[in-house]
Parts: sequence; structure tokens; C-alpha cells
Amino acid sequence: MEPPAIELVNVSTTYEGEQRPAIKNINLRISAGEVVYVAGPNGAGKTTLLETINGLLTPVRGSVYVLGQDVSKRGRLVRREIGYVPQDYASDPWEPFRAIDVVLMGLYGKLGLFTKPSKEDYEKALWAMELLEIDHLAEKPVGKLSGGQQQRVMIARAIAKKPKILLLDEPFSSQDLASRSKVMEVIENLHKSWRLTTVVVSHNLSETLKLCNRVVLMAEGRIFAEASLDEALELLGSALVKSARVEAVRVA
Ligand SMILES: Nc1ncnc2c1ncn2[C@@H]1O[C@H](COP(=O)(O)OP(=O)(O)OP(=O)(O)O)[C@@H](O)[C@H]1O
Ligand SMILES: [Mg+2]
Repeated sequence: MEPPAIELVNVSTTYEGEQRPAIKNINLRISAGEVVYVAGPNGAGKTTLLETINGLLTPVRGSVYVLGQDVSKRGRLVRREIGYVPQDYASDPWEPFRAIDVVLMGLYGKLGLFTKPSKEDYEKALWAMELLEIDHLAEKPVGKLSGGQQQRVMIARAIAKKPKILLLDEPFSSQDLASRSKVMEVIENLHKSWRLTTVVVSHNLSETLKLCNRVVLMAEGRIFAEASLDEALELLGSALVKSARVEAVRVA
């Protein structure tokens, strides 16, 4: 049987120098091909959860498995299969790399000073940039791009290596309306064509819901609810109806 794409068993992660764990006792199992939406207020532990999954943070308790591998032992190997788009990425305005170099780094881990990318890798990087409609920015210094453009560079970087798992932390935060639908369309298409397992953290509730088949709600470092898409839509629907009623009462 295929192992779950991601599995966390009783996981707690504490930042260095902190007393309290930022995520507590997390149990979560995500099957291959699922698209999971993680929502919750600021400080809930969403970013900590993603960084614990990809082994950038080491839990103080519990175990994390990705594609059946123990992340504490095989972090590097696991990260090769994960495309990660960090929250609020902003490069130094004087960063010497071109946008395409940053995308290529997703393929190499790090682009060595003396490595010349193969034609194949260059094409993969351009393909990802085309998908996100930023191929015309390929030669520009990344630090001179706008916040939204840099965010799409990071998404292209995560996608170019054709990962098995995509972890997206607020991928729409700097995108205008049109780019937001573009990014969503790309995520949807990749899911369809590669059966790509995807975890999306976002505050864009109603829009992101369309993408997902499961919703995980976090607060104060814990998962306090999980719902299928239908249940979540129902909850959202009743919340919207409720707030509409409150509005109606106010207006009256
Ligand atoms: N580097 C750090 N060192 C110490 N504590 C941290 C660090 N990063 C985050 N925290 C704490 O861990 C908790 C969870 O933070 P996290 O960044 O995971 O929240 P989040 O849900 O991603 O919030 P947001 O919606 O604002 O991005 C918060 O209480 C935060 O203060
Ligand atoms: Mg965060």
C-alpha cells in the first residue's frame, strides 16, 4: 500500500529559547494526491507546521514522515521531493541573481558559482516561469521585481523541480486579482496532471476553498477542526448567512 504523502504523529515543535511549543500534539495524515487547506489566525502555527513537515524545524516530540521517510533522518532526501514556497519572501534589492537563476536554484538546491545549468534544466525553469506568466522577467535581477512578481518566481522555483509535494505558505498574499486566479489555475492543473499532493496555507478563505478537498483549522498551535470540502462550505455558508443576517439587522 502506498504510504501517506505526509504523516505527523503527536508532533510538537518548540523554537529555540522558547518555553512553549509553537505547535502542539499534531496528528495529521495527508494521502497522496490530496489538496489540503490550512487556515487559522496569525500565530496559530501554520508556518511552523509547514517547516516541521519539510524538516527545516525539528520537532521536540513526535515523528514526521514524508513519502514514508522519517524526516528527522532523511531531511535532505525528502526536501528534494518537496516544493516549498515560503511566506513573505522578499529578496534584497541588490541581489545579483536573475529571476531565472532563482528558479534554477530550486533544481540544484544551490546554484554553485561554477555550475552551468544544462539546457534541459534551463528549459524546465523557463517552462515553470511560462506557466506563471513571468517568463518575460527571466533575465531581470530578482531584487528589482515587485513583491507579487517575486512571489511568482518562488512558486515557479517550487514547481520547476516537479516535486511530489507542494507546500505553499500564503501564495496569494501579494497577488492582484488576475494573478491570484492564475496561481490557482496553475495549482489546480498541476494537481490534475501530476496528482500533486498540495498543502496551502492562506487567509483567502472563500477563494482557496475551491482548490481543496480538505480543510484543517488551527489555533494556538493545535488543530482544532478538520472538515471535508462539503462540510467546510456548509460551515462557511452558514457563517455567511449569519453575518448577512447580522448586517440586515444592523441596517434595519
Ligand atoms: N523564529 C521564531 N522564534 C520564536 N517563536 C516563533 C518564531 N516563529 C514563530 N514563532 C511563534 O510561533 C507561533 C506560531 O507562529 P507561526 O509563524 O507558525 O504562525 P502562523 O500561523 O504562520 O501565523 P501568520 O498567519 O501570521 O503567518 C507564534 O506564537 C509565533 O510567535
Ligand atoms: Mg505564517
